[in-house]
Amino acid sequence: MYRTNTCGELNESNIGQTVTLSGWIQTIRDKGFMIWIDLRDRYGITQLVFDEQRTDKSLLEQTKKLGREFVIQATGQVIERASKNPNIPTGNIEILVEKLTILNSSLVPPFTIEDETDGGEELRMKYRYLDIRRNPVKEKLIFRSKVARLVRNYLSDLGFIETETPVLIKSTPEGARDFVVPSRMNPGQFYALPQSPQTFKQLLMVAGLDKYFQIVKCFRDEDLRADRQPEFTQIDCEMSFVEQEDVLNTFEGLIKYLLKETRSLNFDKFPRMTYAEAMRRYGNDKPDTRFGMEFVELNDELQNSGFKVFDDAELVVGINVEGCAHYTRKQVDELTDWVKRPQIGASGLVYVRYNEDGSIKSSVDKFYSEEKLQAVIKKAQAKPGDLLLILSGAANKVRPQLSALRMELAERLGLRNPEVFAPLWVIDFPLLEWSEEDNRYAAMHHPFTSPKPEDISLLETDPGKARANAYDLVLNGNEIGGGSVRIYDKDLQALMFKLLGFSQEDAEAQFGFLMNAFKYGAPPHAGIAFGFDRLVAILGGQEVIRDYIAFPKNNSGRDVMIDSPAPVHQKQLDELRINVAKE
Ligand code: AMO
Repeated sequence: MYRTNTCGELNESNIGQTVTLSGWIQTIRDKGFMIWIDLRDRYGITQLVFDEQRTDKSLLEQTKKLGREFVIQATGQVIERASKNPNIPTGNIEILVEKLTILNSSLVPPFTIEDETDGGEELRMKYRYLDIRRNPVKEKLIFRSKVARLVRNYLSDLGFIETETPVLIKSTPEGARDFVVPSRMNPGQFYALPQSPQTFKQLLMVAGLDKYFQIVKCFRDEDLRADRQPEFTQIDCEMSFVEQEDVLNTFEGLIKYLLKETRSLNFDKFPRMTYAEAMRRYGNDKPDTRFGMEFVELNDELQNSGFKVFDDAELVVGINVEGCAHYTRKQVDELTDWVKRPQIGASGLVYVRYNEDGSIKSSVDKFYSEEKLQAVIKKAQAKPGDLLLILSGAANKVRPQLSALRMELAERLGLRNPEVFAPLWVIDFPLLEWSEEDNRYAAMHHPFTSPKPEDISLLETDPGKARANAYDLVLNGNEIGGGSVRIYDKDLQALMFKLLGFSQEDAEAQFGFLMNAFKYGAPPHAGIAFGFDRLVAILGGQEVIRDYIAFPKNNSGRDVMIDSPAPVHQKQLDELRINVAKE
């Protein structure tokens, strides 16, 4: 038997017992006459003790061979500690070791395996298995497992059937690039890895499963960010004979359950906001509503006063930054430079400072009377001590710019408190968005999303205006889930493909299987998918999903531990009949 107990469970009540523990050596403190070893396993740390008086000489000799991260087995008596450590559950006891076995030696680890490590990100990723030995990382994986279990229980109890869908499939149009896999048996042909199981879950509805879910890996070849990985996990769900309202209620239930079980938080009905309103109030379809700084449109107050920049703009819009009137010229200049960076792309930033003494100062004083600036202050409901920051330009450009500034200021001012949770549904997304690059419409969600029935007629006349029965669940400024009511009528689906620029042959070649299935009695259906990594990270109080994934990829999409992607042998390429041009 390797162990009678774990390293996290012994306390005063075990004093006098003889126990055997196995684990890794976290630290060795050797005072000559006394040696202490912190032994670690998944469950905690227990102190082992050896001393000149009570420990056998040969055993003391044996300790000289030990080093950090050696795997050992120790048997001994649980005794009361002389100097107690109130910070750990086992802090009142220690094990007076009588028998020691070295189960395995270890090289000196490249970074310290402690909560606060000296290892940089890249190094820790390379030795991820050592990183996972550290509490903060291990705890996140345990938390992920807990959330997965909660999700499974909740959905299974509601009658959802967990069904696996294939990983070697054909391209699914979720808007990113596919990862493709060559087929040896079908030379020149490729599978694609699923960007989501979208079409399969719809086929499962045609198949009559009624309620489906799956915690499933999805693959998207897209630019990476803190909240994006090339392979990530969805909680993918679909239901039959439901309307949007049913889906929202069912999955609001799931998220409430998770917030309660993981955070002990209770929520009433989640707020809902249309896409149009979210864009108007926050310039963003995933607004962080934990704090204010809502957009204030100032066209009426600031146009036609001779300030050409504003006069020529489609939209003049600002935010009121509470209590920041004390920002120095330098600080405002720095913010101006920040919004002018190419990533943001604003042409400039105007401020109106409402000083504590009630006076007003702005960067455009010469164009505006005190009275006009007062009107701006009033519209923004600013109080003395507040700072108004204003941008202008084309509405579809200036809104995201101001939204970025709002988020940046919130970050700097500490308003994005990870312990506060603000969920909301964003609904009524546009069905289509114009792609400048391709000079045609693209589906905003995906091509299977149903237009709102009252907007179907717009598809022929003004497709850009048609709204979809599509919804996102937003949590603390992150899109954690998205879904839609689906088209289940083959003619409407064919019209959608046409609007999206598919020729009949292309639509047939790519989605013939789905259109065909729709000929055999497709039920009305709708669904949603949550980004599981994102959801877990945010529930855990963070936004970087990498930390919640056992073996994540770095920002260049590489796994630095296994060193992948990597070239393959010529023999493999020959078998696959792939010619790789030599550089
Ligand atoms: P969508 O494309 O919105 O919808 O994806 C659903 C959710 O998955 C998460 N997500 C990601 N998480 C990490 N890394 C990524 N690269 C990544 N991409 C997406 C997001 C997102 O909200 N089939 C539809 C769902 C449906 O209509 O039912 C779909 O995949 O949190």
